[in-house]
Amino acid sequence: MERLNNPDLSQPIRTIFNSDEVEAMGFRIPEEMPPPEPTVCPFCGRRLCFEAIVLFNSVILWRRNEPEQCDCDLSVAYRHEQEVQEEQRMREEEQRRKREQCRLKIEELLGSSGIKARFATRTFESYEETPENKLALALAKKYTRKFAEYFRRGYGIYFEGTKGTGKTHLAVAIALQLIREGVPVVFRTSIDLLAELRETYDRRSGHDEKKIIQAYATVDLLIIDDLGKERPSEWTVDRLFAIINERYENMKPIIITTNYNQSELIKRLTPPGGDSKTAEAIISRLKECTGAVTMMGQDWRLK
Ligand SMILES: Nc1ncnc2c1ncn2[C@@H]1O[C@H](COP(=O)(O)OP(=O)(O)OP(=O)(O)O)[C@@H](O)[C@H]1O
Ligand SMILES: [Mg+2]
Ligand SMILES: [Zn+2]
Repeated sequence: MERLNNPDLSQPIRTIFNSDEVEAMGFRIPEEMPPPEPTVCPFCGRRLCFEAIVLFNSVILWRRNEPEQCDCDLSVAYRHEQEVQEEQRMREEEQRRKREQCRLKIEELLGSSGIKARFATRTFESYEETPENKLALALAKKYTRKFAEYFRRGYGIYFEGTKGTGKTHLAVAIALQLIREGVPVVFRTSIDLLAELRETYDRRSGHDEKKIIQAYATVDLLIIDDLGKERPSEWTVDRLFAIINERYENMKPIIITTNYNQSELIKRLTPPGGDSKTAEAIISRLKECTGAVTMMGQDWRLK
């Protein structure tokens, strides 16, 4: 039998008793505090009493939230599973928080996602499936649906093909959907991207340049639209390489749209009169971390 006024002061005095013990030991139960009705373990059927805090031989509080915990195997396993799920939930919450932080940081450095008003309607819903674009559309949808997986692998898409075949539309559709889901995405035409890099050069503030490149290098998904449209200078192609290489090394996905296949793009990214080494290095990385899909057919703009 428990001794309430434990004479051995090295032992903590017990103050929590379940309702059966309260009764057995004859503690006083204030009239306005009747003990909660015991329940049974859903797994083994054992009687589970609620517990009280007892002071000076009298119940001062019933813990009404839940009864004492059963120690049968199924109960223990169930509680363990709940804990695992709770941990998982907290990890996901933490990830969401980090993502949001990253999005705000990127927004602060690069402005909004870069999707202009004209593009806002370029969604999957407004994209018509044709025999020519069927594969590309399926890939874009799958990529969006399974983005978490592709993101883990640092894998992107290389949309190549003739003009007006819907490459930009698909890239924007992916971006809009992922942004809606809270993924930080930056969309830039290569012209804007190169102009922005050049601008940091003109301002001659090395600090800014590093930050901007870092922002492009770290955003969850970077989409470069119309790569190869503009011939870069030696300086800008170096910065373009820095961004793509940093993403490549950190396994961050890139989506490209371009009118050029990979060997033509090497020529387009070679500065006039310069050598093609950096351009080759860019393309070899893109080859490794993107799946290419070719889009041919009629120019949609002429329809
Ligand atoms: N399958 C489609 N369904 C609906 N609209 C489409 C489709 N394909 C293209 N369009 C529309 O046609 C126009 C041109 O498409 P888009 O800009 O995506 O082509 P592109 O392949 O990126 O061309 P470019 O190589 O010249 O950049 C856009 O307004 C786009 O919304
Ligand atoms: Mg385009
Ligand atoms: Zn049990």
